[in-house]
Amino acid sequence: MPDTLTITDNRTGRQYDVPVADGTIRAMDLRQIKVNEEDFGLMTYDPALQNTASCRSGITFIDGDRGILMYRGYPIEQLAEHSTYLETAYVLLHGKLPSAAALETWTEQVTLHTMLHENIKHLMRAFRYNAHPMGVFLSTVGALSTFYPDAKQIFDEGLRELHIQRLIAKTPSIAAYAYRHMTGRFYVYPDNDLSFTGNFLNMLFKMAEAKYRPNPTLERALEVLFILHADHEQNCSTNAMRSIGSSQADPYSAMAGAAAALYGPLHGGANEAVLRMLEQIGSVANVAGFIKRVKAGETRLMGFGHRVYKSYDPRAKIIKKTADEVFEVTGKNPLLDIALELERIALEDDYFVSRKLYPNVDFYSGLIYQAMGFPLEMFSVLFAIPRTAGWLAQWEEMLADSEQKIARPRQIYTGSEQRDYVGMGER
Ligand code: CMC
Repeated sequence: MPDTLTITDNRTGRQYDVPVADGTIRAMDLRQIKVNEEDFGLMTYDPALQNTASCRSGITFIDGDRGILMYRGYPIEQLAEHSTYLETAYVLLHGKLPSAAALETWTEQVTLHTMLHENIKHLMRAFRYNAHPMGVFLSTVGALSTFYPDAKQIFDEGLRELHIQRLIAKTPSIAAYAYRHMTGRFYVYPDNDLSFTGNFLNMLFKMAEAKYRPNPTLERALEVLFILHADHEQNCSTNAMRSIGSSQADPYSAMAGAAAALYGPLHGGANEAVLRMLEQIGSVANVAGFIKRVKAGETRLMGFGHRVYKSYDPRAKIIKKTADEVFEVTGKNPLLDIALELERIALEDDYFVSRKLYPNVDFYSGLIYQAMGFPLEMFSVLFAIPRTAGWLAQWEEMLADSEQKIARPRQIYTGSEQRDYVGMGER
């Protein structure tokens, strides 16, 4: 049997054979289906792109039904156990695990770029004392494009590599400055003797000590969280990165847009929303009442459900283990019992089971971040740091893809017919 789809247009009685490849038909193949010569041709209508593959990608594989996540073919469980964030970033960007020498060079190159231009401090100081750090983060990432005008030369491979290294290196520094700004503390310069996450903890939490020494459990926990968040194929913010990048904007500007998409409570803002929800519930005794409200459609169980995963999010399983390790150091987050009870009830309740709603990565990550001393507002920033690797890998892949053009969807126009302008006096 040929791999084609035969479509009968009942409006005209005509038949069309459309090729099927990789489980898809090309939307542009539908354009030939017309009722007459003036007809524009058939389009697909897919609000929120729920059933549209917008690209071919070799970066991240997800099987949502079986709860599988792999970066470049490496299972997330193995990366979380054995890898570091910087090595994982290399895997995403370069397609395979690095040799020892390649990893050393890559680590050195990224570490060289952790400093921020001094003017960034002045820029950040202009924000109000209570500015949300994610607003500060995304504005600063966008502002970096003005510091590096040659980043516009996106087809120069060497420059692209340089700006990728800069972005990966500088996002923790920006995030830490944003945090120090909101807490009214002096900004801490990077300590390049420390690991990627160790240095990040240094920039966040160093006070008067001559040398900051990160707690190894917390340093590793952050490493694991960063690995888990590094990429997730065509999610909302990655779609924004690709969409902005498709106009050939520089990577700093495109990433500012991607970070803005991540800010929303349905995406990177979800773990902040989970914590607010847990605080609002207040005690285990109130959980059943809250679930009732969710089932009545009055509110959502934040941290549950996913567009792609229709079984337990594999990242949530790893995070639960990391949470136990972190709580050994920090003491248990008092909200954990409420979260466990919510999960217990939801996993038994037909409302959630029938809709295949399971905990996602954000259900427990916020509890860890809070136990480590982060304010809720920092959670989406903590998501953005590792996702930088994924955004940039996806952006580069898009630039190299000869089928990609400027992203420009169609619409179904539902507005008024042509009408004449009426002067103010006659309206
Ligand atoms: N609580 C209660 N009901 C829910 C939830 C939830 N968290 N999520 C989905 N539903 C229901 C929804 O009401 C609908 O029910 P019905 O069929 O009766 O109308 C059904 O499940 C399908 O939901 P949907 O909104 O069509 O699903 P979606 O694929 O558009 O939404 C989602 C995916 C993640 C936005 C959604 O599940 C949600 O809002 N979850 C809470 C927010 C959250 O945790 N987001 C983090 C996602 S993971 C991190 C990331 O990728 O950024």
